[in-house]
Amino acid sequence: MEKKKILILGASGFVGNAIYKELCSYFDTYGTYFSNRSFSTNKQFYRYDLEEDDIFQILEKVHPDVIISALRGNFPAQIQAHQHLMEYLMKSKAKLYFISSANVFDAYSKYPSYEYDKTLSESVFGRLKIKIENMMMRLPKEKTAILRVPMVFGNKSPRVREIKALLDSNEPIEVFPNLIINVTNDDRLTQQIHYLINRNKTGIFHLGSSDLIQHEEFIKDVIQRMGNYHPILKRVYTTNEDRYLAALPKDNKLPKNLQINCQEIIDHHIPV
Ligand SMILES: NC(=O)c1ccc[n+]([C@@H]2O[C@H](COP(=O)([O-])OP(=O)(O)OC[C@H]3O[C@@H](n4cnc5c(N)ncnc54)[C@H](OP(=O)(O)O)[C@@H]3O)[C@@H](O)[C@H]2O)c1
Repeated sequence: MEKKKILILGASGFVGNAIYKELCSYFDTYGTYFSNRSFSTNKQFYRYDLEEDDIFQILEKVHPDVIISALRGNFPAQIQAHQHLMEYLMKSKAKLYFISSANVFDAYSKYPSYEYDKTLSESVFGRLKIKIENMMMRLPKEKTAILRVPMVFGNKSPRVREIKALLDSNEPIEVFPNLIINVTNDDRLTQQIHYLINRNKTGIFHLGSSDLIQHEEFIKDVIQRMGNYHPILKRVYTTNEDRYLAALPKDNKLPKNLQINCQEIIDHHIPV
């Protein structure tokens, strides 16, 4: 059987590159980079600037079976690029896997959210994700997968690196004591995406830990795991009551061995 062709938009970034590394031994995998020139000599990589370039040109060269969108960048340009992707999906065999975010629910604060809950956001970022999700939902279901991802922690994640840098320079670390979240880690996230591609799964997936934790508690656990530090915590209270920012899996659960919980992330994915 011929290998599936995968094109990862934003393959030079933290999430996109983790996906690239997970998939490249199993699939014919291509990626795009924008400013990170270290990919310029890699034959599998194309330079792509969503503000200047038309994604069609790369799509016509690669003819992917699966496109994974893990981009950042100018919001109107992201919307336009995804509009072009929708047009391409309609006239090709390709499916789109979109890395969305738990922020599509950031206007709801009283409960965690599940796959088929209505999205509503108060943030510009959350509204961007909703807009792209809504475009995808207008396409036939077998064409798209919306992957809602919470904060990603892991050995090499920018979030963990930032905490380490702040600890080393003895600067305050922001924590949100009444924010209740779920979290994930890059290794488990990419294994989950690998599974979804292997099984040709489409639909909406909440790819976060199956349990919840307070933001402050989680960050304290991360710091404790890193070593004997005496952190300066800056407690930020955005509301008086507990507030949830969590996309939990319920209807489209993954197999047990691919699920993750907060403690596993602390124990196995934070550098000691
Ligand atoms: N990290 C998280 O905790 C997290 C959580 C939930 C969802 N997500 C989502 O995952 C996606 C990737 O996030 P990330 O954390 O991996 O971000 P990142 O490390 O900043 O990567 C962003 C990617 O987008 C590319 N890019 C930036 N500007 C571009 C432009 N003008 N044209 C074309 N490409 C451009 C970057 O290319 P260069 O690096 O080469 O410039 C890079 O490949 C985002 O959609 C984000 O919302 C992330």
